[in-house]
Amino acid sequence: MATTSKAVLLLGANSDVAKEAILLYVAKGYYVMAASRGVKELEAFSQKYALSKDKVHILYFDAVAFEEHKDFYSALPVKPNIVVYAAGFLKNNEEALLDWNGSFQMMKVHYCGAVSILNIVAMDPENTSLERIIGLSSLSGVRGRKSNFIYGSTKSAFTQYLAGMRQYLFKRNIIVNVVVAGYIRSKMTAGLQLNESLMLEPAFIAQAVVHAGGQFTIVPGMKWKAIYHILRMLPERLVSKLP
Ligand SMILES: NC(=O)c1ccc[n+]([C@@H]2O[C@H](COP(=O)([O-])OP(=O)(O)OC[C@H]3O[C@@H](n4cnc5c(N)ncnc54)[C@H](OP(=O)(O)O)[C@@H]3O)[C@@H](O)[C@H]2O)c1
Repeated sequence: MATTSKAVLLLGANSDVAKEAILLYVAKGYYVMAASRGVKELEAFSQKYALSKDKVHILYFDAVAFEEHKDFYSALPVKPNIVVYAAGFLKNNEEALLDWNGSFQMMKVHYCGAVSILNIVAMDPENTSLERIIGLSSLSGVRGRKSNFIYGSTKSAFTQYLAGMRQYLFKRNIIVNVVVAGYIRSKMTAGLQLNESLMLEPAFIAQAVVHAGGQFTIVPGMKWKAIYHILRMLPERLVSKLP
């Protein structure tokens, strides 16, 4: 790698949003460590976009293999300036209510895995270059709603973790952001019946990630910003009428 480049670690890098972020970070001159279970898919992606190994380094990472996270972090070719946690798993709420494994997997991917690896990142005393941690969370985590409260509650926990971590890291000048996204046209939502006028493209969300500023909560898209603010203020009796 070019030693002058800043480094970004993308966790769950085979996500459609993360792949767009890879392209944007590379265009900005970052050295990208793309970490995912989908190593083969990422290699094909790198080939398609002619991303050389000195620009994008692909690593195996499983968010739920908690006991491997320390070794994974120690083996990174360089310690990151920016870390993005993008791993996500969606199980339909009705199915998750009947299937503990599905519910537990959402908890593990969105919360336990994130806490496991991001604690290691944040508590590395040798990485004085760490500038920013960004988590991909969801509007589903803003209020408990009957149609998606299992996925939503795991994202809510993730958001609260990031909020506390932001306060904890403030004195070290490390910024923590949460991207609170609405509907994204990605592998995760393929086949779902969602309001087309509210769908956002992965590249649009990736722009919000890569251009994250100082504020904690980033809600990409004007419509979703409005929905986010209304949802936060809505009395519980009205939230209970929503799907
Ligand atoms: N799509 C939406 O409408 C939406 C809305 C709000 C927030 N989000 C969040 O945005 C993030 C990106 O999602 P996306 O829309 O880009 O969907 P996506 O393309 O399905 O990406 C999710 C990625 O998470 C990875 N993943 C799942 N379990 C993992 C594990 N144990 N270890 C490592 N990686 C794992 C998957 O890897 P594999 O490819 O290996 O399966 C997949 O690439 C997720 O956190 C998601 O929850 C999505």
